[in-house]
Amino acid sequence: MLKVIDLKKSFNKEEVLKGISFEVDAGETAVILGKSGAGKTTLIRCINGLETFDSGKIVVDDIEITNTSEMKKLRGQIGMVFQNFNLFPHLTVLENIIESPVNVFGKNKEEATKIALDLLDMVDLSDKKDMYPFQLSGGQQQRVAIARSCALMPKVLCFDEPTSALDYENIKKIEEVIQKCKNRGMAVLIITHDRAFSKEVADKIIYIKEGLLVEEIDTDAQ
Ligand SMILES: Nc1ncnc2c1ncn2[C@@H]1O[C@H](COP(=O)(O)OP(=O)(O)OP(=O)(O)O)[C@@H](O)[C@H]1O
Ligand SMILES: [Mg+2]
Repeated sequence: MLKVIDLKKSFNKEEVLKGISFEVDAGETAVILGKSGAGKTTLIRCINGLETFDSGKIVVDDIEITNTSEMKKLRGQIGMVFQNFNLFPHLTVLENIIESPVNVFGKNKEEATKIALDLLDMVDLSDKKDMYPFQLSGGQQQRVAIARSCALMPKVLCFDEPTSALDYENIKKIEEVIQKCKNRGMAVLIITHDRAFSKEVADKIIYIKEGLLVEEIDTDAQ
């Protein structure tokens, strides 16, 4: 579903990604591990089109892009859950989820609402649909952010440090939600420093060291 091929990226003269290649299948979760500064966030930002890359390819479901200007070909195919959630404070939970499908992608409002209600059920927040982000706990906001990222039915869903601000109960809930995203056929890519969480969710572990992929472990085979 997601293929990254020989991806390279420099900032000024510093080469941060030195040729990274890996794949994530549909229904598979890959976890990216590596020391601070290894290039993990840069990698995930390149995949999401939030950062330009210098060379290499990103392929999603046979659509191939070789530079960031082609990123629009992948519009809506890749979802990103940000660490600070980035929810719209003036919109309710439900409005947050349908905002982009309706206002950016021109989807029918009833259809988008139906999908949003299904996703709220998936993240176990059906009862909060008319609340505003400030009325929710951090863990609940995180799950709204996941539902919102799923609203365009992306083929790839990326997370940067999804558990860093969460307690044990909320981490368990996120694990369940990620399992459901996998079951819906998404390829899930997660950066985390949380080894216990990684152990729970990872089908595959990708270690990045100084901009290079140094090890890939298939956790199913262990
Ligand atoms: N916009 C930028 N301009 C210049 N250098 C950058 C930029 N973004 C990242 N870098 C550099 O790229 C390197 C990798 O950063 P990155 O954020 O990808 O690391 P990381 O693996 O996500 O680390 P952490 O675990 O601390 O989040 C660092 O040396 C950083 O200083
Ligand atoms: Mg980072």
